[in-house]
Amino acid sequence: MKFNILTIFPEMFRGPFDASMLKAARDAGVVEVSVIDIRDYAGDKHRTVDDYPFGGGSGMIMKCEPVFLAVEAVLAGRDRSEAPVILLSPQGRVFDQKIALDLAGKKELTLICGHYKGVDERIRDHLVDDEISIGDYVLTGGELAAMVVVDAVTRLLPGVLGDLASAETDSFSDGLIECGHYTRPRSFRGHEVPEVLLGGDHGAIREWRRRDSLRKTAERRPDLLETADLGPEDKRILEEIEKNRHIS
Ligand code: ADE
Repeated sequence: MKFNILTIFPEMFRGPFDASMLKAARDAGVVEVSVIDIRDYAGDKHRTVDDYPFGGGSGMIMKCEPVFLAVEAVLAGRDRSEAPVILLSPQGRVFDQKIALDLAGKKELTLICGHYKGVDERIRDHLVDDEISIGDYVLTGGELAAMVVVDAVTRLLPGVLGDLASAETDSFSDGLIECGHYTRPRSFRGHEVPEVLLGGDHGAIREWRRRDSLRKTAERRPDLLETADLGPEDKRILEEIEKNRHIS
């Protein structure tokens, strides 16, 4: 999969993409990341990429021309249904695991990092296919948001996670928060690992994990239960958790 990142701060991407899973994925040839400086597509010697808003007001607006030219150069001849162009901005739809899975099915993603007060609305209306926000807060620019999207998508690609099953049991992949996990030692400062995980009863372990996942979701993100994929046994467990909560 290829990521094209259009930014006015290409140097921001050096550290994060040169470590950890992203580096391994790049070294293995699973992903290719191309960071493009939007200023290279500015038409003047000052490499101007922003200007004052028509109608007045504070803040600068990212200009159309360099952004259109950069996208057109990067995507010349591409089928846009396989290679969507995405603007990162706080006005976009809020990124989640479902969107990450959907994007992981594309061949190429082009991410535009917005800046200043915003981008010329014609970029939104006539250039991009999608607009994504990573949450209801405002960052100084779309760069960190682009990194979040690249990370969340890359880890879903085949061959990136050593154990493929670990993506399937992720939090949110079935609409629930993931269960708790433990490793050695069995006892740490008097805090014990749940007994059931130490035995070899795989049925009991599966049941404990499902219950823990349901309990955590009910406690921390009850909103997720409305859309989660729940069977009759899950509903029974949730009722029991609810009853116990009132008792304790
Ligand atoms: N740019 C500024 N804030 C942002 C956000 N929350 N998500 C994506 N891009 C942004």
